[in-house]
Formats: sequence, structure tokens, C-alpha cells
Amino acid sequence: MRVRVLGSAAGGGVPQWNCNFTYSRRARLGDGDVPVRLQSSIATSNSNGWVIFNASPDIRQQVAATPSLQPDPNGALRTSPIKAIVLTNADIDHIAGLLSLRERQPFNLYATERVLGVLMNNAVFQVLDPAYVRRIPLQLDQPTTITTTDGEPLLEVQLYSVPGKVALYLETGEAAKDFGADDGDTIGVRIAEIGGRSCLHYVPGCASVTPTLKRQIEGADFLFFDGTVFRDDEMRTAGVGEKTGQRMGHLAIDGPEGSMAALAYVSLGRRCYIHINNTNPILDQRSPERAQVENAGWMVAFDGMEFDL
Ligand code: MLT
Ligand code: MN
Repeated sequence: MRVRVLGSAAGGGVPQWNCNFTYSRRARLGDGDVPVRLQSSIATSNSNGWVIFNASPDIRQQVAATPSLQPDPNGALRTSPIKAIVLTNADIDHIAGLLSLRERQPFNLYATERVLGVLMNNAVFQVLDPAYVRRIPLQLDQPTTITTTDGEPLLEVQLYSVPGKVALYLETGEAAKDFGADDGDTIGVRIAEIGGRSCLHYVPGCASVTPTLKRQIEGADFLFFDGTVFRDDEMRTAGVGEKTGQRMGHLAIDGPEGSMAALAYVSLGRRCYIHINNTNPILDQRSPERAQVENAGWMVAFDGMEFDL
């Protein structure tokens, strides 16, 4: 299975359009230590085509930067190697790209009932013509084969609920527990080749590391994990916003309760942070925080990162 990171940043990207905080400014100026990052998405392939996990608002640019995701120059007049999309939640940075995938191209769209419900209730997503794009609900905790619209197998996934939060735009304003999050609002996904032994876990949003989550990912060959913020209060310290990582449904990397410590004794082939916010000091390749995560055995995903599993 080929794996490619299409976007390694959290919502907004690096640089974010209206942001002058140091990392956006440096990325905009072409500083080699702070590479540009598009919004979070990964893609995996087998010989039947590609599956994209999360449709980022930058998907058009991501396809333009990735020849293997483009139409075969010798193929049909309208064609795409992208055969299926899987969503891990209904956040803007994970669904807005669906709007760029209109144009009557067949593909299967997979998500939990909760997330498909959000799309159903937003009329704008009807641009994805159901005659071409089938919306297929995925059950939690059940291995499922992702296929092309012709039924050809692409890969096997298993979804599991992780602590998270409903999408920002769905918050009711009441400070209910997790702002009303329910099973299926935020998921992690185990990805494996059909009949294959190795597996990858993709968890771009996660509010805490529970014993159940540790059990689920234990022994994985590769883990992509929520690296939104390094410190819980870094947005406030940066002066760009009041929200903490926790308030946004993201567990910080650092600190005694942070993901670096919480996952330290989980056995994993490789571990890699993704969905990195434009306030996170690990964006700077020479920062002490970056050295700290690397010394703890973590990689930091970058756009265009590609490997076989
Ligand atoms: C998140 O990951 O918390 C969301 O993408 C935030 C947002 O919608 O901007
Ligand atoms: Mn996000």
C-alpha cells in the first residue's frame, strides 16, 4: 500500500490567509525552516486506485501537486484515479474539498451516519450528484472493505470513535460535555491492504488518549496522530485567539497529560504528528520543541511525504 500525505496542517493551513503570526509569516516569506503546509489529508492506493482520507479545502491544489492523483493522460475524457473518499469528522478542513469534487465523477463517499447526516443537512453538498457519488455509512468497530463504484476492492478500514467534539459550526453554544459530541462525530481509522498484515492508523483529531484508544492502536506499523497544538494554551500565548486545544477537541503534544507522554509506552512501528496548527512551534524545523518531539521518536508529517506500507 502506498501512502501519501496531501496536507499536514490543521484548519487554515500554513500560512493561514489572514495570519501574521511568526510561522505563517515565515512560511509566506519562503523560510526553509517553516515549509508551507496545506490542510490535513492523506491518500493511500492499491492497483485499483486511490482512497483519500478527508477532503481538504485545498484538494484542488493537492491533486495538482500529485501526478498520481491526476487523470491518466491516455485515459477517458473524464477520468480520475481517485475512487473513494473517507471522512473522519465533519470539520470544514475535512469536508469542504468535497465541493471541488463535483463534475459528475463517480466515487464512493464513506463516513459514519453522524457525519453523513451533517452533509445531508447542508444542501450545498447536493452538488455531489447521488447518481455518481454514493454515500455509504460506515459502522464503528467493524472491518469494512472500501471499494470503487464498480465494486473493486481498494483497502480495508476499521473505524473507532475517539474523544472529540462536534464541528465548530455545529456547536449549540451550550457548554455541554464535549459540546454535544457523540459516538461517530470524531473517529480514528485503521487502514490496511486487503488481506495485508501491516496497518496504519490515522487519527487527525483526538481530545484525549484513553485506555481503549491505546489498545486499538497498540502494535500498529504506523500512526498519524493529532499534532494540532504543542501546548494547550499556545493560541492565547501567541495572541491569535482565546481557545485552548482542549476547547477545540485537540489534546496538546506536550505536558504530563499530553500525547507524547500518553503514547510513550504504546508499541508502534513509526509515530508521526499531523494536522498541525499554525501556532505550533514544531512547524519550525530548528525549534527546541521540534527537537523534543523528534528525540521522543516522533516524526512530523510534511506535504508530499510518501512511503510504502
Ligand atoms: C478543528 O480541527 O478543530 C477544526 O478544523 C477547527 C476549524 O473548523 O477551524
Ligand atoms: Mn481540523
